[in-house]
Amino acid sequence: MAGRFPTAWLDELYERADIVQVVSAYVPLKKNGSRYWGLCPFHHEKTPSFSVNAEQNLYYCFGCKAGGNVVQFVQEMERLSFREAVEHLARQLHMDIPETQEDPDYARRKSQRERLLNANREAAKWYHAQLWKPENARLLDYLHGRGLDDGTIRKFGLGAAPDQWDALTRALEEQGYTQEELGLAGLTVIKEKSRFDMFRNRAIFPIIDAQGEVLGFGGRAMGDVQPKYLNTSDTPVFNKRKGVYAANLLKKQRGLKRIILVEGYMDVVALVQHGVNGVVATLGTALTNEQARLLKRYCPEIWVSYDGDSAGQHAIVRALDIFEQEDISARVLFFPDNLDPDEFIRQRGLAAFQELKPLRAAEYLLRRAQEDLDLSDDEGRMEYAKRSAKILQKVREPVEMDRYLQMLTVQTGYSREVLQMQMGVQAPIAEARRASTGIRHPYRGNQLPKTYSEAEKELIALLISGFAPEGSIQAEDFDTPYIRTIAEKLIGGSTPAALLGMCESDEERSEISRLLVANTEINDENAAKMVSDCLNRIRLNRMQRQIGELQSTINELQGEQKTEAVKELLTLTTEMKRIKDAMQ
Ligand code: UTP
Ligand code: MN
Repeated sequence: MAGRFPTAWLDELYERADIVQVVSAYVPLKKNGSRYWGLCPFHHEKTPSFSVNAEQNLYYCFGCKAGGNVVQFVQEMERLSFREAVEHLARQLHMDIPETQEDPDYARRKSQRERLLNANREAAKWYHAQLWKPENARLLDYLHGRGLDDGTIRKFGLGAAPDQWDALTRALEEQGYTQEELGLAGLTVIKEKSRFDMFRNRAIFPIIDAQGEVLGFGGRAMGDVQPKYLNTSDTPVFNKRKGVYAANLLKKQRGLKRIILVEGYMDVVALVQHGVNGVVATLGTALTNEQARLLKRYCPEIWVSYDGDSAGQHAIVRALDIFEQEDISARVLFFPDNLDPDEFIRQRGLAAFQELKPLRAAEYLLRRAQEDLDLSDDEGRMEYAKRSAKILQKVREPVEMDRYLQMLTVQTGYSREVLQMQMGVQAPIAEARRASTGIRHPYRGNQLPKTYSEAEKELIALLISGFAPEGSIQAEDFDTPYIRTIAEKLIGGSTPAALLGMCESDEERSEISRLLVANTEINDENAAKMVSDCLNRIRLNRMQRQIGELQSTINELQGEQKTEAVKELLTLTTEMKRIKDAMQ
């Protein structure tokens, strides 16, 4: 097992590697102010939103939110592991690569997470090997019967869970995994007196994340056995609300123009086999914001392609709403004749698939809005106009808007002006929402942070800037656990680049890179005021919460306790007013 690079040596590498130079080998950069800008290599774009901060040795893309330090940049560009990327850089810098520190206890001390991921990886290999054994021919025949060729089966690492009680469990126990670990990984079901394999007599679809880690499995039953698909339930390494099926392939397909989001494992596999790129599925749950953000990192546009039944239609509306919230452009792709994507591509082929035209989100919603209405009737047309106005509030492209308005004047009989007035009724809400998600822009001078969580993040930027007065920011000033942890590390002397090496997830790394790169307009003059504004904002938030708690309990209190509570409420409100006044 590989050891670790000596810390001092790694620090020197971070120190010596010039991120501007490293990035420039892949992306032309232009200097603007204190930052460098270029077209993002991680997503498709026409105007530069990829920024490099030379001072902090970091990059961040305001479009797809990819971010990290110089080693992480090389990892992503060259598809290398951390170790490989470090060695790659070291060679460029003519630094001797040190012997890594071997650690005899390494295996024992390896975190549980790593043990479980390894168990999953071994399980995936084992399932895959079973597929080619004569005694499991039935399972291989099943996959072939569904039109899959051996190349596709290998590409997705599909496998076979034999029709036995504990074949996998025994195999992994022999490799030294404990029953407890196998239970935790969801591979083995442990009952009081027995233990058996979770997946038996099923075709296996390993769920692999963008880093190539096997997180869990889906198992397709043979015949009509229920449930049709059995999925690993959440484990210490798997959260089905966060991942998508086939994320590992996404990472290898740079420059995708759109991602197709389907419902089923088989849909993904069949489309890919027929030559459709960039297809993923949610893991048997409704789409979540986390999944949407994950997809956004790979591509600016998503086509939702769910079943045509009413549950599917409902899910589409929800998904569109989530994409809206995450500021992702989305379309809806329908497969005709109630075929699912797997059936369609097998029956009609790639050419027919490429003919399919996705609907824009608003177009789809407008169609749905009239489904239960009678447009030959006054009432029906009025209701349709109202519903449409709501839908159109979210349309941002004037040309698109124009087309819909034109169509609606014909369909509803109302004039453009009236429809626009109807849209105006709720416009302020739409505005507010847009503003609240708009953290794409760098900090604009000496404004007051809008929300409490922004205040916390700005404090981090202030800490990094070096302009905050000594000691003015303490770890205790932060309420959000992960931000507090970052603050502690920064106050303890971590460099921003090293900090990024400690992140546990891509999301966290992206978020922190944003904090580190985004706020460069802090200077000697405005820093102190910004610190105190942020601290005040956080204090206000704490008081607001205390007030909320008091108000919810006050009715149950009596006598002296109640009097005390009322007094405290008064103190809090007065103090809040004082702070607010001071902030003006
Ligand atoms: P479908 O029922 O549409 O199945 O479920 P499918 O993908 O068309 O499957 P085939 O073609 O009959 O093999 C869509 C998805 O919902 C989840 C799975 O992720 C499945 O791929 N699902 C479905 C489950 O998790 N459990 C189930 O029992 C059924
Ligand atoms: Mn199907």
